[in-house]
Amino acid sequence: MEIAATVAQAKAVVRSWRSHGLKLGLVPTMGYLHEGHLSLIDRAAAECDRVAVSVFVNPTQFGPNEDFERYPRDFAKDSKLCAAKGVGLIFCPEPAEMYPPGHATYVEAPALATGLCGRSRPGHFRGVLTVVLKLFMILEPDMAYFGLKDAQQFFCLKKMVEDLNLNLTVVPCPTVRESSGLALSSRNAYLSAEEKNAALCLTKALNKAESLLKAGERRGEVILGAIKETIAQEPLASLEYAEAVETGQLTEVKEFVTETLVAIAVHIGQTRLIDNFIWRG
Ligand code: PAF
Repeated sequence: MEIAATVAQAKAVVRSWRSHGLKLGLVPTMGYLHEGHLSLIDRAAAECDRVAVSVFVNPTQFGPNEDFERYPRDFAKDSKLCAAKGVGLIFCPEPAEMYPPGHATYVEAPALATGLCGRSRPGHFRGVLTVVLKLFMILEPDMAYFGLKDAQQFFCLKKMVEDLNLNLTVVPCPTVRESSGLALSSRNAYLSAEEKNAALCLTKALNKAESLLKAGERRGEVILGAIKETIAQEPLASLEYAEAVETGQLTEVKEFVTETLVAIAVHIGQTRLIDNFIWRG
C-alpha cells in the first residue's frame, strides 16, 4: 500500500495505474474509519481494480464554531484498516498541501445545498464540493463512493458531477448501523454512554415515520409530527430539523408521492447527529 502526503506523490501513483488501464475507485474520508467507511472500501474493491482512500479532515467544510480541531483522528489505525482491506493508496495531505497560501478558488454550491444541513452550516457544502472536486482532479477516479447517511452531501456531489461534466460515477452506498440501529459516524466518538443511549431516539423516530408510511400515511405533517414527538420524549435530545424533501431538488414535500428523503438533525448534548431514510413508495 502506498501512502502519499503530497499531491505530486498521489498523482504519480494513480498515473502509473492509469497507464496500465486499471479502473480506480476512490473512497473520500475524513479518517477515523469505521465499518461504514469499510463498507465503501469493500464496494470499491468489488467494482474497481485499485482502491484509493483519502484521509483528510477538510478545514473548509467546518464553520468557525464547529469541531475541526477536536474532530477524531487516528491515522495509525486508519492505515492498518486500509492495508487489511487491500487498499492501494492512502492520500493523506496536510491542510497546507490542499490549500497552499494564495488558494482562492471554490466551488459555488447549488441551491440544493441551502436547506436541511445547509441552513445551520452555511459554507459547509461549498467546502465539501471544493475538496471533493480537488480530490477528483488529483486522483482521477473512475468511481467514487459515498455513504447515504450524508444524503444531502451525496445529492450535491451528484449535481456537481453532472453540472461540471466530470468524467466519473458517484456511487451512493447504504448507511451502516450498529445493531442498536444507531447510524455509524466518526462523531459518535464524542458521545458518553448515556448520550449514546439517548441517540437511539434518532432511529426510533425514523422507524416510527417508516411504519406510518407502511401503514399508508402520506401527509408530511403527520409523518414529521411523529418524528418531532419521538425526539421530544428524549430529555438529552434537541431537534434541529426534521424534513421531507423530494430527492431531485431537495424541495419540501407536503404529501408523499414521489421518492422522498426524510432527514433529521438532532443535538445530543454537544454532539450534532444526522440520519435519514429514502422513501420510494
Ligand atoms: O463525508 C465526509 O467524510 C466528507 O464530507 C468528505 C466527503 C470526505 C469531504 O471532506
